[in-house]
Amino acid sequence: MKLSQDQLDAFDRDGYLFFPGLFEPDEVTTLTDAVPSLYARREAFNVREKGSDAVRTNFAAHLYSEPFARLARHPRMVQPVQQLFDDEPLYMHQFKVNGKMAFEGDVWQWHQDYGTWKNDDWMPTERAMNVAIFLDDVNEFNGPLMFIPGSHKKGVIDAKHDLTTTSYPLWTVDNELIAALVERAGGKQDGIVSPKGPAGSMILFHSCLVHASTSNLSPWNRVSVYLSLCAVSNHIRRFKRPGYIAHRDFTPIACLPDDCLLKNHPVELPWKEGMPASALVTASTEPTRQAA
Ligand code: SIN
Ligand code: MN
Repeated sequence: MKLSQDQLDAFDRDGYLFFPGLFEPDEVTTLTDAVPSLYARREAFNVREKGSDAVRTNFAAHLYSEPFARLARHPRMVQPVQQLFDDEPLYMHQFKVNGKMAFEGDVWQWHQDYGTWKNDDWMPTERAMNVAIFLDDVNEFNGPLMFIPGSHKKGVIDAKHDLTTTSYPLWTVDNELIAALVERAGGKQDGIVSPKGPAGSMILFHSCLVHASTSNLSPWNRVSVYLSLCAVSNHIRRFKRPGYIAHRDFTPIACLPDDCLLKNHPVELPWKEGMPASALVTASTEPTRQAA
């Protein structure tokens, strides 16, 4: 899949691209069918909502679930990212299956992902991309992702580490700055946008694009996969967060054929028999920023 000049220009201007219905329903089914058994596991890689059993986010499924391992190598997902990064090899920095379950899915506060990757993981630059793939239809009621178009042009914004609002720590941007960014982006006229569409839709968004989502009070789940692809040369320099959250394997992603989700293309699953103890370890001694 090759991006047109218009799409490249739109990405540069807005900080995101939306591809409604990019994956077919039978491709999406192979992924959605795998979610309940992933969410049922009592493992560190399933972070549950505050005071609830509902899964907020599942980490690293591409290392222990076949359909998600195929998605992590899908050319319709990888190739446009590669094009935006001038064909540089990419590795998987983070892989999440976010629940945002009916009635229980909690908010994601306003933030930039690169803020966390910089502060926690010492990722040198913003040369990493977020990809969201909807496994459920996303509408205005089930907590769609919200973007402030063009906010990626601000670079890294000051953020504070919020450890209390939800069950998951996040570097968040304060309300005053959000109000200014929304005003600058057009205020009530598209200062906030939220791409909505059928299961199988994909969004590519810049790692500095400011985004958030509200809680899900609707009766409809909003399960989405978030893949974060980083240029190999820009790999993280600090292992403060455990390896199941911020990966330490910088091997370039090799794409599978386009029909890999339907043909059950063979894939390796290094964590099939369980997550290794090493994936839970956080660095006790930290390298300097210069050291690789
Ligand atoms: C995220 O920003 O990482 C997740 C947002 C969401 O699932 O709505
Ligand atoms: Mn995010």
